[in-house]
Amino acid sequence: MKKILNYIDNKFGRFFFGNDNDFRINLLGSLKRLKLNSLFKTNNFFKYGYVSSGKSNKDYCDELKDHIQKFVNKNFREDLYNYTVPNDEKTIEISKKIFNSNQKLKTDLNSIFGDKFIISDICIYRNYHFNQQDQTNEQYSNFFHCDHYVKTMFKIFIILDDVDENNGPLFFFDKATTKKIIPKFYKNRNEYKPNIDKIFKVNKFTGSKGNTLVCSTTECLHKAGVPNKNKSRDMIVYNCFNLENSDPWFYENDLSNSLSKKLGKLN
Ligand SMILES: [Fe+2]
Repeated sequence: MKKILNYIDNKFGRFFFGNDNDFRINLLGSLKRLKLNSLFKTNNFFKYGYVSSGKSNKDYCDELKDHIQKFVNKNFREDLYNYTVPNDEKTIEISKKIFNSNQKLKTDLNSIFGDKFIISDICIYRNYHFNQQDQTNEQYSNFFHCDHYVKTMFKIFIILDDVDENNGPLFFFDKATTKKIIPKFYKNRNEYKPNIDKIFKVNKFTGSKGNTLVCSTTECLHKAGVPNKNKSRDMIVYNCFNLENSDPWFYENDLSNSLSKKLGKLN
């Protein structure tokens, strides 16, 4: 019985909302978003699912890159292609400086959410090249997917390197394109038309160090690009939730994946 309900939940979610999330979590997210944001307020984030949002201070980005480098030196393994630096007091302090140094980001978040949002987790990554022989070789979210959270969750991506096509930029489709892809070309992250990014217009988050993107990753199919040989890409990602709270750093002492799950999963 549970299997049948899950099947219906999944099919209805795809049909009615046009993303890779189930019906119940989509509905809950839509209601929460409706409650928090004025119906009459329009902005590009809600319309397209993303906005490019200014630039953070490059020196702070370099400061964080130093931490990534030290972490990689300490934990280097030939067969490891993704390094995630654990949050500690120092990395959180730099992450705050990076966040706070982007005035355009602050203005955009205010106009989108009226400052009703919090940061639930910070992820600091380095991705390296690996050999993509087949479609079963997913090393670090490099297959297209939507994040499985309520849609009040969104992510702020800040690149810590100058990123071009060679560095494996983040690939993402806008909301409307995701809706076109889901019914015919996408079953799940392990099963979709291999060249969808050639058939449909895909966005690539390239640019210079400090560039910032705000993306509704629950509604927009996205994946990490794989850097070319001898290339890498460093990035910081702030997991955020649109909710009734005007201090982004309210959960500063509790930043974690489990907090994101608590705020953004059904069970
Ligand atoms: Fe994701």
